[in-house]
Amino acid sequence: MFNDFKITENRPIYIQLKEYLKRMITNGHLIENQKLPSTRELSSLLSISRNTVLTAYADLEQEGLIYAVKGKGNFVSRVETFKSLSIQLNWTDKVNEQTLLADELDLKKHGMRWNKEFISFNSIAPDEKLFDVGNFKRAFLNRMSMEGDIVLNYGYAKGYQPLIEYLLHYMEIKGVDTRNKDILITNGFTEGLDLILSSLTKKNGRVLCENPTNDSALKLFRLHGFEIDGIEMDNDGVNIRQLETLLSKKEYDFAYLIPSYHNPTGIVTSSQKRKEIMDLFSAYQLPIIENGFNEELRYSGSHLASLASFAGQGNNVIYISSFSKILFPGLRVGWILADKELINFLESMKRARTIHTSTLDQAVLYQYLNDGYFEKYLKKAKSVYKRKHELTVHYCQQFIPFKRLTGDGGLHLFIELEDHIDARKLLEKCYQKGVVFLPGNIFHTDNSGHHTLRLGFSRLTEREIIDGIKIIGDTLKNNYGG
Ligand SMILES: Cc1ncc(COP(=O)(O)O)c(C=O)c1O
Repeated sequence: MFNDFKITENRPIYIQLKEYLKRMITNGHLIENQKLPSTRELSSLLSISRNTVLTAYADLEQEGLIYAVKGKGNFVSRVETFKSLSIQLNWTDKVNEQTLLADELDLKKHGMRWNKEFISFNSIAPDEKLFDVGNFKRAFLNRMSMEGDIVLNYGYAKGYQPLIEYLLHYMEIKGVDTRNKDILITNGFTEGLDLILSSLTKKNGRVLCENPTNDSALKLFRLHGFEIDGIEMDNDGVNIRQLETLLSKKEYDFAYLIPSYHNPTGIVTSSQKRKEIMDLFSAYQLPIIENGFNEELRYSGSHLASLASFAGQGNNVIYISSFSKILFPGLRVGWILADKELINFLESMKRARTIHTSTLDQAVLYQYLNDGYFEKYLKKAKSVYKRKHELTVHYCQQFIPFKRLTGDGGLHLFIELEDHIDARKLLEKCYQKGVVFLPGNIFHTDNSGHHTLRLGFSRLTEREIIDGIKIIGDTLKNNYGG
C-alpha cells in the first residue's frame, strides 16, 4: 500500500498526499475505522517530511474524511462509497436535432488532420509571435493593483463600463453616430451573432448574405434554422442588381454583411456600394448585421466608413466586432454596437445565458487599450501582415494559375481556379506533400465554389508561404496542366 504514490513537480506535496489519500478513502480502498500509518511511518515510507504528512492529515480531518484518537493515531471516517446500479444511456438518442447538426457541421472535429510539420494555410488567427506579452502583463498588474478585488467578483451583463465607454469613443472616432446607440460586450463575434439570432424574430426565416461568407456565421444561421440566400460578389462588394432582385422577390428578416476584408474573399466593399446597400435596406426597412472584425487590418487604400457610420442616426445597422484578429483571440472579447433599445434586450439575453463576459479579461483589456499598447501593437502587426500579404499575392501570381485572386487586406487571400478544378481533390494531393488550405465550398451558401480556396497567411513564416504556394502551384500544374 502507498507504493503507487508518485510526486509530480510544481504542486505542494501535502496537497498531492491529501488527494491521494482522499481518493483511496472515497474509492473504498481505505475503509471505515482503518488505522492510517503514523505521520512518522508515512513520512519515512514515502521519503517526504513529517510536516507534509501532518498537514495532509490535518486537512483530511477538517474535511471529515479521517478522525484522530488521542494517543492512538488517525483513522478513516465513515464515508459513503456505495455505487448505485450503473446504467449506460445512449446520448446520441438524447441530444436534440440542433446539437446533432452542430456536430455534423463541426469541421474542426471532422476535418482533415495534419501535424506541426505541415504548412497550413487554414488559419487566419493572429501570429502569436507578435503578441507583446510584456505589456499585457503590465496592464494586468496595473488593473489588478487598482481594483483586483472588484474585477474578481460578479460584473455587469452589459460589460465592464470603462471598456464600454472606451469602445463607444472608439466607434465615434471611426465616424459612427453613437447617439441613441449602446454597446454590449460579448464573448467574441461568435457569441454576439448567436445572441442576435436568438433575440430577433424569425418572421420569414430567411437571411441574405454575401456568397461566399464566413463558415462560422453560416453554421449559426443553419443552427438557428434560417434559410440562407447568398449574393454573388463583384470585386467591389455584393452584386447590387442581384441584391435588388432578391429583395424584391422574397421577404427577409435581415442581411449579414462583412464590408471590409471580407472572409473568405478579402474583398472591400466600395464606398459607392456601401451607400447603395444602405439605401436599399432603408427602403425595405430591414436590419443589417455588419461584421467589422477585420476593419483595422488595412494595408493600403483609403479608410472606408463602416455601414454603421453610413447609417448616421438611423438604427437599422447592428454592428458586431471583436478583438480576435486585431489583438488576442484567447481573451474572447467582442462587442455589439446597436440601437439602445435593442442592446437593452440583448443585455437580458446575455444575462440569462452567460451572466457576463469575464470581467477580469475585459478590465485587463481595457487597461491595455487605454495605455496605448493596442495602437503600438497594431502598427507592428500591420507592418508584418502587410509584408506577408504582399508576399502571398506575389507568389500566387507567379506560381498559381488562377482565374481570380481577391484579398485587399486582412489575413487571407481567396483564389478562384478554373471551373473544372476541384479544390478538395487538389487539397488531397497537396496534403500528401505536407500543405493544407481551406477548400472554398465550405464558405458558400449553396455548396458551390468547388473550384475555390482560401489561403490564410498570418501564422506562416515567409519561407513557409513561398514553399507552400510553390507546392500548390506545382501540384496544380502537374495535375491540371497550365
Ligand atoms: C468573419 C469573421 N468574423 C469574426 C471572427 C472572429 O470571431 P470570434 O471573435 O468569435 O473569435 C472570425 C474568425 O475567424 C471571422 O472569420
